[in-house]
Amino acid sequence: MRTYGYTDTLPAEHYARALRADIREGLTRTPKTTEPKWFYDGRGSELFEQITQLPEYPVWRAELGLLLLHAAEIATRTGARSLVELGSGSSTKSKLILEALGPNGLHYVPVDVSADALHQAGAQLVQDYPGIALHALRADFTVPLALPELPDEEPRLFAFLGSTLGNFRRPVRGPFLRALRGIMRPEDFLLIGADLVKPEPEMIAAYDDSQEVTAEFDRHLLRILNRELDADFDTDAFDHLSVWNSAEQHIEMRLRSRVEQRVKIRGLDLAVRFEDGEDWITESSAKFTTDGLQAELAAAGLRTDRLWADTDAGFALILATAH
Ligand code: SAH
Ligand code: AVI
Repeated sequence: MRTYGYTDTLPAEHYARALRADIREGLTRTPKTTEPKWFYDGRGSELFEQITQLPEYPVWRAELGLLLLHAAEIATRTGARSLVELGSGSSTKSKLILEALGPNGLHYVPVDVSADALHQAGAQLVQDYPGIALHALRADFTVPLALPELPDEEPRLFAFLGSTLGNFRRPVRGPFLRALRGIMRPEDFLLIGADLVKPEPEMIAAYDDSQEVTAEFDRHLLRILNRELDADFDTDAFDHLSVWNSAEQHIEMRLRSRVEQRVKIRGLDLAVRFEDGEDWITESSAKFTTDGLQAELAAAGLRTDRLWADTDAGFALILATAH
């Protein structure tokens, strides 16, 4: 029996309202700083997929390698029959977990802001796993999640892969993890993938690759704002930068204005002034230590059950329990 449900909790007006609020607030503060979730329209998700294949970006491959080695153990330790995945994107790596858990009759809830990513991944998943119960959820995981009904009897596995947790700044990670713990039952598990601190040149190169795919991803935000907010950003008027912020222990993607300019955002009835050389932080990406992340999880009531690390690539997977 084939089950495919799709719930959109982000109707157009909700998305547009949140985008307007963040861009207005973010571009009128100093330094200009906006949320990274706006990157992921169809083209943005496609560019992210290209980033995952770049030699300079080890995150994706390292996590895939760890899942190849340990998915079977994750399945045995959790005994989960439901998988809820935050920021599921293409769900490519998730397939390793789905297969280890046994896709027949398994409830899979991919959660993402990108409708395109959910539709594409969903079409492929129902074809590959006809017995799966798929409930795609278009939602913003920074606000409380309303999950579809899932079987009560068995443990659930929540997954937050790709080091997407790192796209939250430190002060919001605690409340986010506590809210997530709040929707978990004591018998549930959380699988977290985290990119680790490594030598600075490697971290910088991961966000400033030689083929300039990451630069294209960064500037794509300007096209999204031109389209969604009737703005007149000139993509050639901004340089892309990758900067290590050692105080915050995160990489910042920045767009630096090449000139002094005034950009009209008609949808906000706003004109934004950029100085020559002024930076706009479009994304921060925290790099973790295994001790630091375990402490953050513990503070949210999540105890490490198992930790696997790829020390060469600098990446860790943590399986945490809610009990
Ligand atoms: N987990 C996948 C994709 C990571 S890219 C992997 O490891 O390859 C980050 C994903 O999170 C994108 O698909 C993006 O659309 C989604 N995302 C980013 N911010 C989000 C938010 N606030 N709520 C829901 N999804 C979000
Ligand atoms: C999704 N997220 C974890 C990626 C990261 O590494 O912060 C997004 C990304 N931005 C630039 N490259 C990749």
